[in-house]
Amino acid sequence: MKPINVGLLGIGTVGGGTWTVLNRNAEEITRRAGRPIRISVVADKNLELAQQVTGGPSANVKLTDDAFAVVADPEVDIVVELIGGYGVAKELVLKAIENGKHVVTANKALLAVHGNEIFAAAQRKGVMVAFEAAVAGGIPIIKALREGLTANRIQWIAGIINGTTNFILSEMRDKGLAFDVVLKEAQRLGYAEADPTFDIEGVDAAHKLTIMSAIAFGIPMQFDKAYVEGISKLDAQDIKYAEQLGYRIKLLGITRRTADGVELRVHPTLIPARRLIANVEGAMNAVLVQGDAVGATLYYGKGAGAEPTASAVIADLVDVTRMHTADPEHRVPHLAFQPDQLADIKVLPIGEVTTSYYLRMRVEDKPGVLADITRILADQQISIDAMIQREPAEGEQQTDIIMLTHLTREKQVDAAIDRIESLPVVTGKLIKLRLESLS
Ligand code: HSE
Repeated sequence: MKPINVGLLGIGTVGGGTWTVLNRNAEEITRRAGRPIRISVVADKNLELAQQVTGGPSANVKLTDDAFAVVADPEVDIVVELIGGYGVAKELVLKAIENGKHVVTANKALLAVHGNEIFAAAQRKGVMVAFEAAVAGGIPIIKALREGLTANRIQWIAGIINGTTNFILSEMRDKGLAFDVVLKEAQRLGYAEADPTFDIEGVDAAHKLTIMSAIAFGIPMQFDKAYVEGISKLDAQDIKYAEQLGYRIKLLGITRRTADGVELRVHPTLIPARRLIANVEGAMNAVLVQGDAVGATLYYGKGAGAEPTASAVIADLVDVTRMHTADPEHRVPHLAFQPDQLADIKVLPIGEVTTSYYLRMRVEDKPGVLADITRILADQQISIDAMIQREPAEGEQQTDIIMLTHLTREKQVDAAIDRIESLPVVTGKLIKLRLESLS
């Protein structure tokens, strides 16, 4: 049977994994897809690497350093974009679409920021843009959200969707080490990039969350409205205090449908240690989805790496191969909802978000201090759920108070924090972390 031809843009880690798995499992994949899927051309700036990985060029595969030639190649049916970033990758994807080619991409940044434009172009041209590999690597979460859970009104999603930060947090908790020390170790082991900013500041997680939120709620991509806070300022003491209170701290991406709008936020979050997702350690990813019919479902696996991500890229290649002869209107819509049915639901600013809070403050250890603080909290309608006070060390005049609150609107917590920080018995800034019960 005539193979479907793939043009692969980028043969780095994921591209190399895609080449390997597609060849190793060719027979099984052909049985599933209904026809062979063949990488007929590979473009990479590093031609030597392309030769090494493919063993080519040969009668079966062309190698080039000109990606624009691939998206214009009349023999190519599907373009796999594994270059990353928003620059040339965006141009190539839009050109491929303009030339009537289907696109498979792992590029979360591109879709979170320019997805609306890309999907509109694909819609006009009647081509597919598939992106399973863009979120949580090998975990088929896009398939689950877009198809498996399609009967549900999805209520919320909470995910550990960045392996680098989960590795760092696991090490900080296990070994009681500071963030900077663990980051260096993660870089030495190759878990963290030389420039780790996108990972540690939560940007990578926010890209992935933006994509999941769009599919879950049928809204356009709105990365610019996401609240993004990373883990670089997280103090190892708070991980310890959280543990004493029965919680773990994870960098969670949370998106929730509320009566007032959609929450879209990434930040360090306390979660009860007894939850399955709280026990996802190291570089692993996990996504918890709450649907009204199915209840909670949890997806766990490797969120990065050559073959896990290739697994998702190839799943998309099989889907596109099966569906490319179908009428465009009979395919699964890009964002799960029909394009003319996308809702204009607003994304809530962080001040309007309602959740629970962990507050740590340094105070003088004398009568009336706690009463002053609880009075301010009561004035803002903030109810305390749990509290610990560290016993002051010998001769110490100050101590730490840690409080957990019940559900509260963030702007009320911020107003209370301003007033508490101005009390003469309180030293320095309060530490505020958000807490999710995930029940
Ligand atoms: N850098 C990401 C992570 C993997 O650490 O999970 C690619 O999105």
